[in-house]
Amino acid sequence: MHSLIWRDTYLELIDQTKLPNSVEYVSCRTYKEVGEAIKTMKVRGAPAIGAAAAFGVVLGSFEVKDAPPEKIINHLKKVGEELLSTRPTAVNLKWAVERMLKRAERTVISNSDVVEELISEAVSIYKEDLHVNKAIGKHGERVVPDGAVVLTHCNAGALATVGYGTALGVIRAAREAGKKISVIACETRPNFQGARLTVWELIKEGFDVKLIVDSAAGYIMQRGLIDLVVVGADRIASNGDTANKIGTYSLAVLAKHHGIPFYVAAPSSTFDLNLADGSQIPVEERDPEEVRKVGTTRIAPAEVDVINYVFDITPGSLITGIITEYGIIEEDRIGEAGKWLEKMKSEVEKEK
Ligand code: MRU
Repeated sequence: MHSLIWRDTYLELIDQTKLPNSVEYVSCRTYKEVGEAIKTMKVRGAPAIGAAAAFGVVLGSFEVKDAPPEKIINHLKKVGEELLSTRPTAVNLKWAVERMLKRAERTVISNSDVVEELISEAVSIYKEDLHVNKAIGKHGERVVPDGAVVLTHCNAGALATVGYGTALGVIRAAREAGKKISVIACETRPNFQGARLTVWELIKEGFDVKLIVDSAAGYIMQRGLIDLVVVGADRIASNGDTANKIGTYSLAVLAKHHGIPFYVAAPSSTFDLNLADGSQIPVEERDPEEVRKVGTTRIAPAEVDVINYVFDITPGSLITGIITEYGIIEEDRIGEAGKWLEKMKSEVEKEK
């Protein structure tokens, strides 16, 4: 299953706001439509947002394909800024837009066809994401014992990526390695990504999965029902502090208290090495109505004030390991996660 598909002249997305009740697709024919789909969470999840934005830049280039180089670059910068303004926390969006703009700049200098070159860059981002998720799965499945019950939060699955998933990629890979795995998914208020998306993905594949309300996690850990926690990430600072869906930090504290391993699974594109620690990560606040309502049903007085941070920051010190496509950053190295990653990248570059 793929969360998005490039159809030569437009981007097709699974409308994640409609799941699990119906599987509907939306077509984005302009970069503004891609921006709107990201903002309204039709497409969500850090890597999927990044890939969608890359195709958004492609759609933006259609509008200036015959223009002079300077005009092309100025327009694409504006497209990039608009796409970046849709959601602030997941750094993959910035990573993908910057990569597309760099390619555009190289293209106009060499006088090549900007549309063609940008399609090829976006397709590379798309294909790499699948490949990277499989690598994360391969490294990560080693920490999942046979027979394990794995707790996960939000949706870090095929829907949050181009396909396969990060946290769910680890779970999928463990099963592919022949292990018997059960999953417990937190429902993930206020947007219910766990209930609507994670459970849907896993049931489709025949996984043994149980759904809990977010506040049940502590008691379920206390009863000894969880062997490990695996979650995704939206942005990871150099010292391993990790932004992920609101509620992740509480799970990490609970896991520490109960002596349960707590893993984060994320591609290198989720690391923001410009940030020394998590205090500098911008945390998105969304519409208070998301909390006052469940779907269209009001569950709280309309006039009540709401705090609706949709991400939180888990200190690196609470994380047992960060699973990347290069391998696992173990507990004793997490404080220098950024350095670890740079070293791994340069070793892979040397081998090429
Ligand atoms: O607000 P969302 O649904 O875009 O947030 C996504 C998450 O926080 C997920 O938990 C995920 O771990 C990051 S994407 C693999």
